[in-house]
Amino acid sequence: MALFEKMLSSEESLFKNELVLDFSFMPKVIPFRETQQRFVASCIQPLFQKRNGKNVFVFGPPGVGKTVALKHVVGELEEQTEEIIPLYLNCWQKNSTFKIYVELCEQLGYPYTQNKGTEDLFKVVKNQLNKRSAVLVFDEIDKVEDMDFLYAILEEVFRKSIIVVTNYPDWLQGVEERVRSRLMLQQLEFKPYNAQETRGILQQRVEHAFFPDVVQPDAFEAVLMQAVEKGDIRIGLTLLREAGMIAEDKASRKISGEHVKEAMGKFAQVAFGSSKDLDGDMQMAISLIQKNGSVKMGDLFEHYQKAGGKSAYRTLARKINKLGELHFLDLEKKEGGSEGTTTIVSCPKEKKLSEF
Ligand SMILES: Nc1ncnc2c1ncn2[C@@H]1O[C@H](COP(=O)(O)OP(=O)(O)O)[C@@H](O)[C@H]1O
Ligand SMILES: [Mg+2]
Repeated sequence: MALFEKMLSSEESLFKNELVLDFSFMPKVIPFRETQQRFVASCIQPLFQKRNGKNVFVFGPPGVGKTVALKHVVGELEEQTEEIIPLYLNCWQKNSTFKIYVELCEQLGYPYTQNKGTEDLFKVVKNQLNKRSAVLVFDEIDKVEDMDFLYAILEEVFRKSIIVVTNYPDWLQGVEERVRSRLMLQQLEFKPYNAQETRGILQQRVEHAFFPDVVQPDAFEAVLMQAVEKGDIRIGLTLLREAGMIAEDKASRKISGEHVKEAMGKFAQVAFGSSKDLDGDMQMAISLIQKNGSVKMGDLFEHYQKAGGKSAYRTLARKINKLGELHFLDLEKKEGGSEGTTTIVSCPKEKKLSEF
């Protein structure tokens, strides 16, 4: 009897390259966003003639390719010319003028940022940028706490295109007048992909992430349906990875619709359903964070254990990271100090447990 021939041995994997399913993975081509990339390119175009570029306001819901498309434009620019300095920053991690200046200095190859004040850092940035032209992408701009850096760049950097990116179409209304009036933003909306586009994008990822024929048609359709329904490619990527891991755990050689269903049941309720279905650990962690405010991962684990949590530190940390990836929690990595890298966990301001 060939009882075990369909079973996966422990060295085998269904994944050809699991990293392809990371949100931060950069595909070589970005289909269905050519129009948007061309529009951004046209706003940058004047910089090639040593004139000032246009500024762009990029908006659209989460998971519709804003980040990946803009990173792609920045990457192409880097390959095309030495004359224009491409800079990309995520304001979720760099959320103050000071942090943004430090990051810009580092990207500009100026490492001596320690013990320097905000003004001095900006001098470095300004001098570097004014030697050439610059494209500055500020992704997740809604996360910044102050706009001084934007004002300073607008006033003192001569040839630039500033591109601000956010999930919130009305972000601009809350921006102080002195900045808004100077920005003169071109609007660029990213709408959710339709079913066919979502299919194309996920199919491409499946081909690169898994060995041939691993993902069964019913599994793919189930993932696709969720991604289309939520209008978020990340839902599709997360489900594919989770379903793959579940199938591996069961030593199955295929990923079936059942595995996808299980993946959805396991943790995806955060994204798909209501809080009553939320994984117990996740729910507990979220309410502890709501009670304690922002908290270090290690301290969170202590609170969690005191409250009767049973999972190991690594399990909890993995779940917290997952919630972070899906932006249900804010995670800030702090480097250095006696503890090495620590992660500070907090609830995003705009999201409450009742919305989960
Ligand atoms: N057109 C596309 N082609 C390939 N992958 C895409 C495309 N659009 C989005 N993705 C993938 O979907 C995920 C979410 O896209 P992202 O750019 O982070 O969305 P947003 O910034 O709008 O929230 C990323 O992993 C990204 O690589
Ligand atoms: Mg993004």
